[in-house]
Amino acid sequence: MIRFLVGFLTAVVLVLLVLFCYVRLGFVDPRADVEPGSLEKKVAMPALDASVERRAPSMKNPIQPTDENLLGGMKIYQANCSGCHGDISHPHLAFGDSFYPRAPQFVEDAPDMPENQNFYIIQHGVRLSGMPGWNSSLKESEIWQVTTFLSNMDKLPPQVLAVWKIEATGTGAASSSDPGTITPAKNRRMDMSAH
Ligand code: HEC
Repeated sequence: MIRFLVGFLTAVVLVLLVLFCYVRLGFVDPRADVEPGSLEKKVAMPALDASVERRAPSMKNPIQPTDENLLGGMKIYQANCSGCHGDISHPHLAFGDSFYPRAPQFVEDAPDMPENQNFYIIQHGVRLSGMPGWNSSLKESEIWQVTTFLSNMDKLPPQVLAVWKIEATGTGAASSSDPGTITPAKNRRMDMSAH
C-alpha cells in the first residue's frame, strides 16, 4: 500500500513538473493571430461561460428598453465598444479578429446571454482577453443602458436604428478611417491615437 502511494505521488509530481517546464520554458504559443486550439475551445471557453454563470449576481435589469435608454446605450456602445465589436456600418471588423479570443462581432451575432451575465462581463471585463472591465469608466446606470442596448440590438425600433446608422457612419468610433475597408490592426491603432 505504501509503495503504491509513493509511486502514485511520484507520478503526480512528475506530471506537474512536466507541465511547469512546458509553460516556464516557453512552449506555450503566445501569438494572438492563430486559431484557438481544440483544447481551448473544449475547455477554456465553456469554463468562462460556467464561471460567469456561477458568479454573476442574479440581478434583474432595473431599466426598460425605452427609446431613450436604447439611444443612451447606443451612444455608449458607439463611443466605447464599436471599435472592437463592430457596429451597424461595420458589422465585421478585422480588428476584432486580431484578439485572442476573438472579439465577438455583435451585429453579426447578437449576444444572447442573460442580461445579468452581460452586465457582469461589461463591469469586470474578461481576464487574459482584450475585454476591459468598465467599472471605473462607466457608471452603473450606463452599464445597464449598454447591456439593454446589446440585448435589443437585433430588434431595435426603427427610430433608434436610424440614429445609430447616422452615428456609425458619421462620428462613430469605428468610422475613424475609410468605413468601406476593413482596417488592419496596425493602422487602426494609429487612427485611434490620432483622435
Ligand atoms: C479592446 C477591445 C474591446 C473593447 C473596447 C470592448 N470589448 Fe467586449 N470583448 C472583447 C473581447 C476580445 C472579448 C472576448 C472575450 C472572451 O471571449 O474571452 C469581448 C467580450 C465581450 C462580451 C462577452 C460576449 C460573449 O458572448 O461572451 C461582452 C458582453 C462585451 N465584450 C461587451 C462589451 C461592451 C459593452 C463594450 C463597451 C463598453 C466592450 N465590450 C468593449 C474586446 C473588447
